[in-house]
Amino acid sequence: MAMRIIPCPKEFTKKDGSFLFDAETGFFCDYENVGNSISSFLKTCGIGWRTGEDIKFTSDGSDSSSEAYTLVVGEDGVKVSAKSERGLFYGAQTLKQLILSSFDEKTKTAEIPCCEINDEPRFSYRGYMFDTVRHFFPVEVVKKYIEAISLLKLNVFHWHLSDDQGWRVQIDKYPRLTEHGSMRRETCGDKKPHGGFYTKEQIKDVVEFAKERFITVIPEFDIPGHTRAAVSSYPELGCSKKPVEVSTKFGIHSEILCAGKEESYDFVKGVLTEFAEMFPSKYIHIGGDEAVKHEWYKCPDCQKKMKELGLRNEEELQAYFTEKAVEYLKSLNKTTICWNESANSGKLESSVILQFWSDGKDNENVIREVKNGRKIIVSKFNPYYLDYPYPMHSLKAAYEFEPVFHGIEGYEQNVLGVESTLWTEWIDNTDLLAFRVFPRLTAVSESAWCDKSKKDYLAFENSLKNVNKLIENTTGIKAAPLKDCNVKNPLKRAAIMMKFGMNLIDFEMIARSNRAAKEMKKMRSVRKKENNGK
Ligand code: ACM
Ligand code: ZN
Repeated sequence: MAMRIIPCPKEFTKKDGSFLFDAETGFFCDYENVGNSISSFLKTCGIGWRTGEDIKFTSDGSDSSSEAYTLVVGEDGVKVSAKSERGLFYGAQTLKQLILSSFDEKTKTAEIPCCEINDEPRFSYRGYMFDTVRHFFPVEVVKKYIEAISLLKLNVFHWHLSDDQGWRVQIDKYPRLTEHGSMRRETCGDKKPHGGFYTKEQIKDVVEFAKERFITVIPEFDIPGHTRAAVSSYPELGCSKKPVEVSTKFGIHSEILCAGKEESYDFVKGVLTEFAEMFPSKYIHIGGDEAVKHEWYKCPDCQKKMKELGLRNEEELQAYFTEKAVEYLKSLNKTTICWNESANSGKLESSVILQFWSDGKDNENVIREVKNGRKIIVSKFNPYYLDYPYPMHSLKAAYEFEPVFHGIEGYEQNVLGVESTLWTEWIDNTDLLAFRVFPRLTAVSESAWCDKSKKDYLAFENSLKNVNKLIENTTGIKAAPLKDCNVKNPLKRAAIMMKFGMNLIDFEMIARSNRAAKEMKKMRSVRKKENNGK
C-alpha cells in the first residue's frame, strides 16, 4: 500500500479498482456523532454534506463497547460496519485519511483504491495527558487537543487539574481553591501573575465534547503531594499550618496534605465527591507521585496516626492515605488510577490501576506489581513524555518503544494500555505545545492501537504527512516538521538541549530538591534502622 492509515489497521487487503469520491458523493449515516465527524471533515475539504447511498455506515448495535469496524471500498461505494457507534466512529476516522490521501483541492475529488479493512485496537486504554496547571490553557485549546486525539483513535483525555502551582477546577465546598489557589503571583521571576480555572459549566461542556468523540475525560486530583496550591488556599490542610503562597517555581515541593488530621480526609472526600459528579468516567486519577514525606516525618499528628495504625514508615502512611481515597471512590462506583510511586510501599490497595512513568529504581516495584496481577498504564518517561525536546525523546524512539516492556513480557493482559503525557512547566504557548505533542503523539497512537508486528517506522514516516494534514485541517494544530523530530546533527542537538537546560538552572529549585532528597534519605535510614533493616 502506498498510503498507510495511522494507526495502522489490523488487516488491510488491497483490491483492484477504485472508488471515485467527489462533491456529489452521498452519505448514509444514522449516527449523530459519526455524521457530525464526517460533515465537519467535509467542510474542511470545501464540500457540503449530501445524503445518499454511496458511503454507508451501518451497525447492528450488538455490542456498544466494541471498538472494531470493517470498511470495504468497492468501485460503486464504501461500506463501514460495526457492532457499535464507537466502531463506526473509528471507521470514519480511517475514511478521512483514505479520502485525504488522494484529495484534489481543485476538483474536489479523490480516488480511493478498493480495499477491505478489518480493524480493532490492541489496547483498550489509549490516552493523552494534558497538564493545564503549570500553564493554564483555555477550553478552546483543550477541545482542539481532544478533537486531534480523536482522529488518532485515542479514547482517554487525562486532565491534570491540581498541583503546587495552581488549582484549576471549581469546587463548591472549597471556594478558596479557585478564589485564591488558581492564581500565582508570578512564574520563575517573570513578575506576571498567571492563572485560571475551569467552571463546572466549562467542565460539563468539555466532557460532552469528548464524549461525542468517544473519549473519556479522566480528571486528576494529585494527592498527597503536589498540593501546595490547596495548602496555600487552606493552610489547615498542611502539617505545619504555616501559610505558603501558590508556588511560583517548578520542581518538587515539600508541602503535603497532613495525614494525621481529619480535615485532610474530609477535604479529599469533598473534592472527590464533586469530581465524581463532574466526570462520568469510571476512573478517577489521584496522583500519588513525588510525595516528599519529611513533613509527615516531623509532624506530631502524622506520627501519632502512624503509631495508632502500627505503620512502619511514611511510605505505608501514603498507602493508608491513598486507600482512604480509593475506598471512598469505590463507594462512588469509581476505580482509582495512581502514578507508580504509590506502589512503593508494597501495600497499595489491589484495585488501583498503576500508571508507570518513572525510570530507574521504581521499575522493579512496577514489575513486581504487574507480575502480581496489577493492571498498568504505560507512560514511561523516556520516550513517552512529550514535553521533552526531540533530541531527548525522538519521534523514532517514541514510535519504537514497546509498551509490554522488558521485565513484563508474558503479562500483556495486565497492560491496559498506553498514555503519553504533556507537562507544561516549560510550555507556555500553543505553538510550542503543538510542536512538542505532534507528531510524537501520532507515533504513540500506533503502539496504542496496532499490534507490534504491524509497526514499521519508515512506513509510518512515509504516511505522516497525510495525518499531519488531517490534524491541521481539522484543528489548526501544526505538527513539528520531520527534520526536527529525529535530530542527528550533534551541534543542533547540543543547541536544543542547552536552550532547554536553561530552564533548569534555577538555584532555588536545585537547592530545594537537594534538601528534600537529603531529608528523605535521613528519614528512610531512621525507619530502616527501626525496622531492623527491612
Ligand atoms: C510525574 O511525572 N510526576 C507523574
Ligand atoms: Zn501531618
